[in-house]
Amino acid sequence: MAARITVAEGDITTFDTDAIVNAANNTLLGGGGVDGAIHRAAGPGLFAECRALGGCDTGDAKITGGHRLRARHVIHTVGPIWRGGDGGEAALLARCYRRSLDVAAEYGLSTIAFPSISTGAYGYPVAEAARVAVAAVADGLAAHPEIAEVTFVAFGPDVAAAYRAALAASAGSGAS
Ligand code: APR
Repeated sequence: MAARITVAEGDITTFDTDAIVNAANNTLLGGGGVDGAIHRAAGPGLFAECRALGGCDTGDAKITGGHRLRARHVIHTVGPIWRGGDGGEAALLARCYRRSLDVAAEYGLSTIAFPSISTGAYGYPVAEAARVAVAAVADGLAAHPEIAEVTFVAFGPDVAAAYRAALAASAGSGAS
């Protein structure tokens, strides 16, 4: 399973995959962080398409076209805001990854790139988020053998190291 999960560093808007995942908010009307970067790179057509989607619940995922992005699609998901960890944040974060992979499979997509959901403005501790993300993606890939590759795209070396460590720990536990 680990062979189908990779970690890369860079700007997710430059990735040439079937879909890149956006860490959006419930309105789906754009924001800062990776949401802002994706909308800037995709152009106004993405905003127009998102406006017609009527928002997105936390833990859910909705798909649009990629517009001016290299990626063919954007899968918009809304991560939980970190409130200390006792409010079901881990389950909601896992759902973001699982629902995004379910949507990708529904659309016959094979390569998907994820940012580090919820670990920026939403304050989720990176090491814990990476552990949840790797486990959820491994589950999603087991459920969807037609998906060839998932890439975690880290915006910096610390985040990349966290996802690499989580991936190694998962492989070590034989969970992959
Ligand atoms: N490519 C890849 N990763 C990026 C990029 C980029 N171009 N820009 C930012 N990131 C990283 C951040 O460094 C962080 O590690 O994405 C991760 C998620 O951070 P945020 O974008 O702040 O997302 P999140 O924590 O889920 O907060 C979502 O922020 O932008 C608003 O509208 C969004 O309200 C929502 C909230």
